[in-house]
Amino acid sequence: MGRFVLFASLLLATNGVLGAGWIGEVKKENGSEYRCKCYSDNACWPTNSDWNKLNTTVDGQLQLALPPGAVCHKQLGNSTVNVYDAAKCADTQANWLNEQWLTDHPIAELWPFATNNTCLPTDDPSTPCTRGFYGTYVIVAKTKNQIKAGVDFARERNLRLIIRNTGHDFMGRSTGWGSLIINTHSFKDVKFVQKYDGPGDWTGSAATVGAAVQGRELFRQAFAQSPKVVIVGGECPTVGWGGGYIQGGGHGPLTGIYGMGADNVLSFDAITAKGEYVTANAEENPDLFWALKGGGPSTFAVVTAITVKTFPEIPTAGTILNINSTHTNDSAVMTKAFHIFHNLSNHYSNHGMFVYFELGPGPTRLHIAPFVGPNMNETQLNAVLKPLYDQLNAAKIPYDTHTRSFPTFFEFYIDMFEDEQPNQQSIVGGRIFTQSDIAQNGDKIADALIFASMPEPTQLGFNVGHIVNPGHGNPVVDNAINPTWRNASSFVITNVLMTGTESWAVKKERESFNTNVVGKALRDVSPAGASYVNEGDLNEPNWQHAYWGSNYARLLEIRSKYDPNGVFYTQTTPGTEAWSVIDYGTKLCKKVSA
Ligand SMILES: Cc1cc2nc3c(=O)[nH]c(=O)nc-3n(C[C@H](O)[C@H](O)[C@H](O)COP(=O)(O)OP(=O)(O)OC[C@H]3O[C@@H](n4cnc5c(N)ncnc54)[C@H](O)[C@@H]3O)c2cc1C
Ligand SMILES: *[C@@H]1O[C@H](CO)[C@@H](O)[C@H](O)[C@H]1NC(C)=O
Ligand SMILES: *[C@@H]1O[C@H](CO)[C@@H](O)[C@H](O)[C@H]1NC(C)=O
Ligand SMILES: *[C@@H]1O[C@H](CO)[C@@H](O)[C@H](O)[C@H]1NC(C)=O
Ligand SMILES: *[C@@H]1O[C@H](CO)[C@@H](O)[C@H](O)[C@H]1NC(C)=O
Ligand SMILES: *[C@@H]1O[C@H](CO)[C@@H](O)[C@H](O)[C@H]1NC(C)=O
Ligand SMILES: *[C@@H]1O[C@H](CO)[C@@H](O)[C@H](O)[C@H]1NC(C)=O
Ligand SMILES: *[C@@H]1O[C@H](CO)[C@@H](O)[C@H](O)[C@H]1NC(C)=O
Ligand SMILES: *[C@@H]1O[C@H](CO)[C@@H](O)[C@H](O)[C@H]1NC(C)=O
Ligand SMILES: *[C@@H]1O[C@H](CO)[C@@H](O)[C@H](O)[C@H]1NC(C)=O
Repeated sequence: MGRFVLFASLLLATNGVLGAGWIGEVKKENGSEYRCKCYSDNACWPTNSDWNKLNTTVDGQLQLALPPGAVCHKQLGNSTVNVYDAAKCADTQANWLNEQWLTDHPIAELWPFATNNTCLPTDDPSTPCTRGFYGTYVIVAKTKNQIKAGVDFARERNLRLIIRNTGHDFMGRSTGWGSLIINTHSFKDVKFVQKYDGPGDWTGSAATVGAAVQGRELFRQAFAQSPKVVIVGGECPTVGWGGGYIQGGGHGPLTGIYGMGADNVLSFDAITAKGEYVTANAEENPDLFWALKGGGPSTFAVVTAITVKTFPEIPTAGTILNINSTHTNDSAVMTKAFHIFHNLSNHYSNHGMFVYFELGPGPTRLHIAPFVGPNMNETQLNAVLKPLYDQLNAAKIPYDTHTRSFPTFFEFYIDMFEDEQPNQQSIVGGRIFTQSDIAQNGDKIADALIFASMPEPTQLGFNVGHIVNPGHGNPVVDNAINPTWRNASSFVITNVLMTGTESWAVKKERESFNTNVVGKALRDVSPAGASYVNEGDLNEPNWQHAYWGSNYARLLEIRSKYDPNGVFYTQTTPGTEAWSVIDYGTKLCKKVSA
């Protein structure tokens, strides 16, 4: 890896050549010149008195951002603040693998690789706690005014702004070094109506959902309605439905019949980079409406609530299938089994199904949990799966399987989906495989996925797959998601497994391996494919096209209209071409020359 060329030349420009009113530091890296956000080592960083004023404006909701493990350490960084609290430390240790506990924390990230895996909940309080890539201050917002105050402060002071909802993001997009964080996790209101009468053609039932509402709690509330309803959401129980999920597009178990999460949105309430309260729907701000439906999280506005279509409950059947070391240790048998299973992706998705599967580490474990058969009973689902069973049996492959049917989707969902374990470390990538690619290259795709599950002998990988075709139910929706989604058959997330304690150089090497070896293997076998911004590679080559296809040009235009100066930032989202986090992953800066 090359050497950084750093000039820590601090230049506080308030006028002249750098643009009127602009304040901040000018830095050089690798020979290019950058204008950076203001950080605590810059004169433009707000004074304590400024922060206190902000705290008053946000009704006392401003907090120093403390990494979740800080309560187990005597000292935070170089500060003399004593953060140690034995009881809170014990609580943190007990909940370190508890998704909901981490979600409820003001700044924790569930997948801590992007935080530098720092300040862990140790038994030895004398070990140092460094902030890593966590932010500096957080507003735990309870009202829209508090969000607006945070956006205004970040914009006026040129601070790095992070919006943190659940901290669920695989790619660490809800943390940022030296930032002011706005936590939206308190926006939990949900309201159901049986007849939507707002702008647009929809007159069916709908729900208005606060930004903070999580997958399972939303499904639970929908189930409690009379009549019971369902909403398209993700498979994950704790993901922030109204946060990053919808803004990135959102696939889920009902996508094969009702489309993506973002296909069903009727209206957004949001706060723009300029600090304006807006409604975005078919009549008001239709361009913003279009962009928020899949154009990328933390890109166009802070969303506070979403109105979405709801649908009547439906009977659902599910099947769980395992092939692992209890059945065989023969990797040739496992490989054959995976080929048979994955090659049938078009078949499952053409029946409106969604299939969640895990492959890895290595071809030693295939865990399909579950096959989702919406509007199917046990007999019907087993009939659809018959070609799979027939081919596995013909190849004499041992496996375990069981199928059950439920009167409702919700009862099925609670019974057959499993919670994920957080605080795992990996570098994420992924690929959308289309129907045509599966039909033409099915075997090569299966081989590439097996390769991704075992990138190196010492560095095992892991795949999380979702077989689904959001075009199957033919939703007629014009929105920002990559049009390639409509042709999808299987979308698989790859993980290069890490410990989180690797050196910077090793992390960069592994990132490059993820992009240029694992990612390349997937791209090579899927010429018609694409990538998914919420579960993809932060270094995806040609990301504009990979994530948004022909929709990118319009997204770029809308971004420059609503956030011309880059108040919001998340890597590889529309309009961020000139921006990067330089100086070893710390300072967010905009390239101004060469
Ligand atoms: C275990 C697991 C399972 C998943 N399952 C699915 C799935 O089934 N289907 C699917 O499509 N995706 C799934 N995802 C991916 C998920 O959609 C993204 O991680 C999404 O970004 C999470 O959003 P969040 O608001 O919960 O998370 P956060 O980490 O809080 O935020 C993620 C991103 O959204 C931005 N953001 C959050 N809230 C707002 C807001 N109110 N306004 C503007 N920007 C905001 C943040 O700034 C950040 O960039 C899964 C992720 C995990 C970790
Ligand atoms: C500068 O070069 C190094 C080494 O190639 C690289 O890791 C880093 O990302 C580059 N910085 C920028 C801002 O491109
Ligand atoms: C903000 O004000 C509240 C209430 O007075 C206080 O508890 C909190 O510590 C303050 N935050 C900061 C960062 O000073
Ligand atoms: C902490 O103090 C050390 C020694 O004085 C200094 O080198 C380092 O930059 C300081 N770190 C921070 C985060 O201020
Ligand atoms: C991240 O961790 C590495 C080693 O674990 C350390 O050298 C580096 O200073 C850390 N970076 C930050 C920003 O804390
Ligand atoms: C392996 O398969 C068995 C039998 O179906 C199942 O009970 C077990 O959970 C599977 N193990 C793993 C690690 O997936
Ligand atoms: C596979 O290997 C493991 C570990 O050696 C062993 O416990 C298991 O019984 C083996 N499985 C089969 C089917 O032989
Ligand atoms: C499933 O549905 C089909 C079609 O309606 C029906 O013929 C069959 O008896 C049902 N099977 C079960 C187990 O309910
Ligand atoms: C998978 O599909 C390909 C077509 O892409 C076909 O040639 C091959 O025989 C299939 N393999 C298996 C194991 O079903
Ligand atoms: C979807 O597939 C059809 C048929 O193969 C093709 O004509 C169309 O261009 C594809 N659309 C996208 C966006 O890939």
